[in-house]
Formats: sequence, structure tokens, C-alpha cells
Amino acid sequence: MTCVFVDHGLLRKGEGDFVEKTFKGKFGIDLIRVNAAERFLEKLSGVTEPEEKRRRIGEEFIRVFEAQAEKLGPIHVLAQGTIYPDVIESGKGDSAVIKSHHNVGALPDTMRFDKIAEPLRELFKDEVRAIGRLLGLPKRLTERQPFPGPGLAVRIIGEVTREKLEILRDAVAIFREVIEDLQPENIPNQYFAVLTDLRSVGVKGDARSYGYTVALRAVSTDDFMTAEWTRLPYEVLETASNRITNEIACVSRVVYDISSKPPATVEWE
Ligand code: XMP
Repeated sequence: MTCVFVDHGLLRKGEGDFVEKTFKGKFGIDLIRVNAAERFLEKLSGVTEPEEKRRRIGEEFIRVFEAQAEKLGPIHVLAQGTIYPDVIESGKGDSAVIKSHHNVGALPDTMRFDKIAEPLRELFKDEVRAIGRLLGLPKRLTERQPFPGPGLAVRIIGEVTREKLEILRDAVAIFREVIEDLQPENIPNQYFAVLTDLRSVGVKGDARSYGYTVALRAVSTDDFMTAEWTRLPYEVLETASNRITNEIACVSRVVYDISSKPPATVEWE
């Protein structure tokens, strides 16, 4: 078995190195990291509609896997970590399409593999974590917050550009640092920043600014099928807001998302 890690350039700061180090170093797995950032950015150029973004990302993942399979010799089976919510939300069976997960609903119609193996397909996230614990995986992996396959592309509303990726990476890193520094009692099960395509007027120093609006999202949940917005302490929100607007020049406003799932979803797209 060969593991292929598709680095699509839509990752948080440090995420790619973490994945590589964990799998190669710690577990000694035969892992190939493919730098595919340029291809993904090209495919996403000019795309603003969330489902179209997801379809393009889903297809590009498969095309990168196919190219690697061709190099490695005849490979018939692609294994994926699909879990049950990906299947349900992608509208398989009688369910409505909520969002096409990159590994299910967003897969292309044709691909050069005979078979897809999905050993976790019938399990919810909390059940997958339980299996990880049974296998003796370290806590920092089994308790890790999820990071979706389409990555930051579904956290940038509107077109994904290099500039917006940089802004969002910085905002995400700041929010994370603040939570880690202040250690609120109710640590959310997943938290991140979203770069909205809404600009608003602000004042920085003595000058007018017309910058982006960043939304902070934090949820408490076990299975991610339903989720409550996390009641983060004001101190955490205030520190995150101050740091984001002070440290990122083109952001002039920060808002906190107080929607639960349903009716909202965890990710904004
Ligand atoms: P939603 O936004 O559907 O998210 O309420 C529920 C959980 O699923 C993650 N998510 C994804 N994970 N591929 C993934 O691997 C995807 O396409 C995808 N979309 C959402 C999301 O981060 C949350 O943990």
C-alpha cells in the first residue's frame, strides 16, 4: 500500500508538515506528498458557487491520485477515509443533497480505478475516533478537530485567490493561538475563521479602511451531524477580534457566528 497525500495548497499553516511528519516519521508509512497547489488554484479560478467549487476539488483529487497510480504501476483500488455523514450529506439514497463532500458527491463520473475501498463508510465521526483509540493512536490524532478535504476553499466565500488564502491562514492561526493561550473551559470540538466576501468601512489609525469581514466559527458536538455554537467567553472573542484586526491589514471587522446546525451547517459552504 502507498499513501498519497495531496497537498492542494488549501491547508492551514503547518497542516501539511504535520501530516507528513506524523505519517512518515511516527508511523513509518510509505507516504508520497504531492504538491498540487498550482493545479487546484487554477481549477478554482473564477469559481464562486459552493457546489461547483466542491465538484472541481473532488475531481482534481482523483486526477492527482490517477497520475500517481500511473507512475507507481498498475493500481486498481483507491482507498478513502469516507465516513457516514459524508455519504448522507452528499445525498446518497433518499437523502437531500446538503453539500457534496469531496470524497463522495463531488467525485467525477469516470475514473481510472476499478474499485474504491472505504472501510469507514458506515461509521460516524465519534465511532471512527473510538476505533482510533482501540488501535492505540495518540490522543492528538484521535481527538484532533476535523479539517475538511476541500480545506480553506469552503471557508473563503466567493472566489479563492492566493491573497485571500493568505489572509484566512493568518486569521485561522490567530484564532487558534488565542484559544490555546486562554484555554477556555469549553474548548470547541471544531473552530476556525471564515473569510466572507463582505467588505465594510472601518478606521485604522487616522485613516479610513474598507477591509474584509472575518467570521469566527466554533461548535460543540460529538457527531457533527448536529452542532451547537460554542458559548466562548467574551475575553476569547475580544482578544481574537483585536488581534485579527490589528495584525491583518486588510481586515476591518470580525463577527462571531451564533448559528447551530441545523439550520446552519458547520462549514459556510
Ligand atoms: P458541515 O459543514 O456539513 O460539516 O456541517 C460537518 C463536518 O464535516 C466536515 N466537512 C467535510 N469533511 N470533506 C470532508 O472531509 C468535505 O467535503 C467536508 N465538508 C464538511 C466539516 O469540517 C465538519 O467537521
